[in-house]
Amino acid sequence: MPLHPVTTEEIDSWRKDILGRNTRYTICEAIREVYAKENNGDLKELLLVIYAYAKRMDKKLREYNGDYDQGWWGLTPMTPVAKIFQQHTVGQTYEELQAFVDWLRPREPKVILEIGFYRGGTARVWQTLEPEIQVEVDFEFKPQDMFPGFIPITGDSTHESTVEAVTDALGGRKVDFLFIDGNHSLECAGKDLKNYGPMVRKSGVIAFHDVFLTRPGAEVHALWEQLRSHHNTLSFQVDGGPGIGVMVQS
Ligand SMILES: C[S@@+](CC[C@H](N)C(=O)[O-])C[C@H]1O[C@@H](n2cnc3c(N)ncnc32)[C@H](O)[C@@H]1O
Repeated sequence: MPLHPVTTEEIDSWRKDILGRNTRYTICEAIREVYAKENNGDLKELLLVIYAYAKRMDKKLREYNGDYDQGWWGLTPMTPVAKIFQQHTVGQTYEELQAFVDWLRPREPKVILEIGFYRGGTARVWQTLEPEIQVEVDFEFKPQDMFPGFIPITGDSTHESTVEAVTDALGGRKVDFLFIDGNHSLECAGKDLKNYGPMVRKSGVIAFHDVFLTRPGAEVHALWEQLRSHHNTLSFQVDGGPGIGVMVQS
């Protein structure tokens, strides 16, 4: 089948799509993505040829250079958040969290409190903000997910004993940034806000994950709807993702 020449516009749109994401893709992944979205049969064929060459080049580069990081052609430098996504389990959508962190970083939060550690993905991201105190609350902390730099509080976030343990861990400091990402029922997320919201300083940041997620059991959106009508809020959502909602403590 004859191939029509690729136009500059087509290349530009691929570049924008792949490179615009501020993350690192293997060249083969990038080609596969473009291939999946492309409807033009000629271009699809061309992409298959490029893909085959890219794989061969990967192989050659590895032969010549033992340190060559297979497949990573470093299209754009990775941000610290992107690196954490590559190496750890993070319960977030990369683009949303990156946008939120870009907004949060200049605010230089020094005291951070998170409800919902899970595998420590976001906890590692908060570490890139270089906090002086970071407190994490969850039912359990698995040894393989631990790293230095934060105070783990084991317990149910809605229990009084946990609230007391967090108060002690903060040692009289007010929280600059609170991330609520524990139990996603309306009742529990509401309790987390009621219990830990007052620990946040005036003009401090309170953020919730999944403010636009509406599947069964995910009820943070209902709380978010209530909060939006009474507070100064903003949100980070990319491509209909679950969303991060932010309100500033009044
Ligand atoms: C969605 S995950 C957190 C994901 C993490 N913030 C991230 O993005 O990488 C929710 C976590 O909250 C914890 N959790 C749920 N309900 C809780 C509660 N009432 N008290 C303490 N932790 C709770 C769960 O054990 C789970 O690890």
